[in-house]
Amino acid sequence: MAGRIPDDIIMQVRERVDIVDLVSGYVPLKHSGANHLGLCPFHNEKTPSFNVNSTRQIFHCFGCGVGGNVFSFLMRMDGIAFPQAVRRLAEQVGIDIPKDEPSAFEVQRRQEMERLNKIYEVATDFYHQLLLDDPRAAQARGYIRRRGFDSEAVRRFRLGYAPDGWDALANHLKQQGVDADQAKELGLIRSGKEGRPDYDMFRQRLLFPIDDMFGHVVAFGGRVLDDSLPKYINSPESALYHKSRILYGLFQAKNEMRRQRKVVVVEGYFDHLALVQAGIENVVATCGTALTTDHGRVLKRYVEQVVLLFDQDKAGQKACFRGMPILLQAGLQVLTLELPEGDDPDTCVNREGAEQFNQRLDKARSAIDYFIEVKLNEAGDNAEQRAKAVNEILIMIRHVPGEIEQDLHLTPLAAASGVQTELLRRQLERTEIPKEPVRRVAPTAVAPPQQEQPPAHGDDDYTFVADNSDSGGYADNDYHGNFGNQNQVAAKARAVKPVTDSKAHRWLLSVMLADETVSSTVVEKGLKTFFDDAVYRYLAEQIAQAWQQKKQPGEWLLDHCEQPEQQALLTQILIQGKELPNENIEEIFGDCQLAVARSQLKQRRAELHALMREAEHSGDLDRQTVCLQELTQINRQLKSRIV
Ligand code: UTP
Ligand code: MN
Repeated sequence: MAGRIPDDIIMQVRERVDIVDLVSGYVPLKHSGANHLGLCPFHNEKTPSFNVNSTRQIFHCFGCGVGGNVFSFLMRMDGIAFPQAVRRLAEQVGIDIPKDEPSAFEVQRRQEMERLNKIYEVATDFYHQLLLDDPRAAQARGYIRRRGFDSEAVRRFRLGYAPDGWDALANHLKQQGVDADQAKELGLIRSGKEGRPDYDMFRQRLLFPIDDMFGHVVAFGGRVLDDSLPKYINSPESALYHKSRILYGLFQAKNEMRRQRKVVVVEGYFDHLALVQAGIENVVATCGTALTTDHGRVLKRYVEQVVLLFDQDKAGQKACFRGMPILLQAGLQVLTLELPEGDDPDTCVNREGAEQFNQRLDKARSAIDYFIEVKLNEAGDNAEQRAKAVNEILIMIRHVPGEIEQDLHLTPLAAASGVQTELLRRQLERTEIPKEPVRRVAPTAVAPPQQEQPPAHGDDDYTFVADNSDSGGYADNDYHGNFGNQNQVAAKARAVKPVTDSKAHRWLLSVMLADETVSSTVVEKGLKTFFDDAVYRYLAEQIAQAWQQKKQPGEWLLDHCEQPEQQALLTQILIQGKELPNENIEEIFGDCQLAVARSQLKQRRAELHALMREAEHSGDLDRQTVCLQELTQINRQLKSRIV
């Protein structure tokens, strides 16, 4: 793979960077026993549970569970990928990553991207300066002021103004030696037809520069200053701009998002600006694009909670319900905040002021509860409609990862719908997520429409067709259409959530880490017999592999367990650092085996209880008897403590 950094270099970097130094640059740490202790930067806490261990060169937070080594710390802290983290640290400690390592293609691509970034930079600066002090922007400045925004907001988000006329930017770029074809690729300039000169994409509009993850401007959203249509035009997708991945304001919001583990998602640029001006820093805007799985993944890097704060109209509600399953599935907790009917966040915060609005924000509630309320209300008293609504709600609940978490939503649903919890539970078990829960990404910006040709100069009556096909109305998919289809899906009993005795499993992993023989015994007996949880099993597998390759498993694993859950578990084990006395290994292993066997029996017992319940409901006496027999036997075994 192009751009891959050689393993020995990664190792050198890791050896030279000290995790305590690195973390101290972000978090004040205090010495405490074998560890250094501080307030976790990845969640909000008042008493420190964030541990850094300099012997093992790892960190682990007992509050939120995250953990890892120097690389994972930087990845999380700065929202960057592994190779970037390695590079950045390599630079700090003076290790050269071989220059010839990226392929010629990669180098070319990077240079190309830098050139493109530069073009947006030039354009952003040009438009921003204009807005700040050019006489042509007087009307735009007035508009911003009237809407309640000050020049600090303008400067901070580098808002711009594209003046009237056809070639202000085109000329400026030419002066700056920018390649016209590239400016066209980025959608800043358009080709004139029939020998007419190239012309600017944005004219007489207030511009919101849209940043990527690194704070480079990659697109503009441009608003008219009056009621003409389209209200906004946006830069088309380009090599720099992929709107399914970009959220407006993320670059500025990410530190606060990480600190609070929470983000407010609004729809519009002005909503975003209004919230920021009210002192709410952890806010991003979707900018009329429906939320995608990529958005979900990006958000999940920084937060656990998402508050959807959409316009209080049909379109806003629809966008909210579309976004929910995607965010839920990403493992995010989703909340909603309702405003007075017809409001949008911008109007509301401007009317009420920051303080009152912040109080509102504290009252955000579970989006699923909101969904329950809306759907049941819509259904009214009609039994059939209500049943349909309940099914829709169950599908929504099904997007929540974790069966316990799902189950917790059934109580409010039962209360609101009048359907018994037990019945809902059974129905939920049969409910499957429709095949395509993720919305199709809307077709990207289309080629400039014909009527976009500039008329002869001075002629002002032209129309402009919106290029953003999915603004306002959200691109259709059949997701909602799929609601209620689950009847066709064969009823399938779900496995009961494993009653994993994780302590025993953690011990077992510790022993495997400490002792090669134990590690191979576990593998020989079959990982599945010991670990029913995939994360534990993966770690066990990696430990065995490390031994096989004659590597020190602890370190090797930190580089091979990239998933956050894997890292969290691994660092938890490492940081608790059970020093295992060698002579007792066998004995400890024996205890672990017993404990694991017990936990498996307990899991089977839970399964049997569920099966019994089902058999009772269906009146299947034979099955009840069989279950009961096995249950009795298991209880006896557990009691005897042979296992
Ligand atoms: P809104 O119509 O709610 O706009 O669209 P707004 O940002 O609140 O603007 P004001 O307050 O009326 O001035 C929400 C978002 O949808 C996108 C924009 O990103 C906008 O901020 N949008 C809307 C478009 O891209 N094109 C449009 O024509 C309209
Ligand atoms: Mn608005």
